[in-house]
Amino acid sequence: MLIIVLNTVLIVSGIAGFLALLLVIADYFFANYGECKITINGKKELVINGGDSLLTALNQNKIYLPSACGGRGSCGFCKCKVNQGGGPLLPTERPFLTKEEIDQDIRLSCQIKVKEDIFIDIPEAIFNIKNFRAKVIRIKDLTYDIKEIKLELLEPAEIDFKAGQYVQLISPKYGKVKQSVSRAYSISSSPDNKNSIELIIKRVPDGICTTWVHDYLKEEDEVNFTGPFGDFFIRDTKADMIFVAGGSGKAPIKSMIEYMEKRKVNRRMGYFFGARNSKELYYTEYFREFEQKLPSFQYFPVLSQPAEACEWDGRCGYVMPFFDEFIKDPENTEAYLCGSPGMISAVVKNLKEKGIKAENIYYDSFA
Ligand SMILES: Cc1cc2nc3c(=O)[nH]c(=O)nc-3n(C[C@H](O)[C@H](O)[C@H](O)COP(=O)(O)OP(=O)(O)OC[C@H]3O[C@@H](n4cnc5c(N)ncnc54)[C@H](O)[C@@H]3O)c2cc1C
Ligand code: FES
Repeated sequence: MLIIVLNTVLIVSGIAGFLALLLVIADYFFANYGECKITINGKKELVINGGDSLLTALNQNKIYLPSACGGRGSCGFCKCKVNQGGGPLLPTERPFLTKEEIDQDIRLSCQIKVKEDIFIDIPEAIFNIKNFRAKVIRIKDLTYDIKEIKLELLEPAEIDFKAGQYVQLISPKYGKVKQSVSRAYSISSSPDNKNSIELIIKRVPDGICTTWVHDYLKEEDEVNFTGPFGDFFIRDTKADMIFVAGGSGKAPIKSMIEYMEKRKVNRRMGYFFGARNSKELYYTEYFREFEQKLPSFQYFPVLSQPAEACEWDGRCGYVMPFFDEFIKDPENTEAYLCGSPGMISAVVKNLKEKGIKAENIYYDSFA
């Protein structure tokens, strides 16, 4: 009896799955939604051919919402308020939305397919985000798996950004990769240089964009990116600042320190850079020099697995036990963190235990 019930359940589920697949295929190849209107902030209207995601439709009309994962539904950055016409909330959106956001009709624009007229609200600042064409004027190896690329802006010729913000670099189709993707990279150069930007990009094995950067991109090539994006930037207070970053997470911190050095900011600053061994260290002398130029700045590189042959006589282990060397007044300290989600959550927990207020901890998670 049990076997008959199980077989029936299996057959019914199989048929339901097959029908759902047919519907997806039919929708992809045959659905024609005709012209649809996107009304933005109650005033701007776009007429598009339905069928694309809301994120793509906006991009095609030069309106660039943040989208670090390039529309894969894994970063949760592409939020906007959908007042009407977005269809039901999808299970793929729920993990990225708080209850308050759901109540306020906030949605992930990459998950909404435009099939009818749709009414949305987006922050006015989004209209300042542009698409840039740029030329690669320098590619430099910083470590065995991290490259720095310098891009000279062609059109528009200048960019305004805040130290700590990021751009979305667009990789074209290359080799066996048949899709163009866009990925977030923090600007590592100072906002005082408006005609060029620098990026620090770590290779992710089999990663689409980083493989292109590391194995295909050459000096003199032209690239496209959108930006600037993000709210990871220095708060204008007098509080002490602790910076924590490893790997390519150094990028936005470098931009911030350069910006503050130029203005001779005299807030107490401590930068903890975690690496496994000396092969992963870079810009060490550069940051040591900042200790001379900016007396209120201290650099703390820490190695978790120094190689036997390495002549490292610096700090060893994880960065967190060394925070006490810098934090004197946790109530009056801001933290700026950048790196992998695992590193961020461990450091956030540790800093809160040390008495730094949650609202004073800012981070960009390179998820
Ligand atoms: C706000 C923000 C700023 C960022 N700034 C920088 C930066 O300055 N420099 C930089 O190098 N990166 C940065 N990143 C990460 C970057 O956007 C990409 O996620 C990363 O370069 C991988 O892209 P990819 O196309 O090569 O890999 P994908 O093709 O997207 O991924 C391939 C596989 O690797 C996994 N993966 C993706 N990223 C990582 C990772 N970092 N480590 C391990 N596995 C991974 C994916 O889950 C997937 O399975 C930033 C991310 C965010 C959200
Ligand atoms: S673009 Fe990343 S979740 Fe929508």
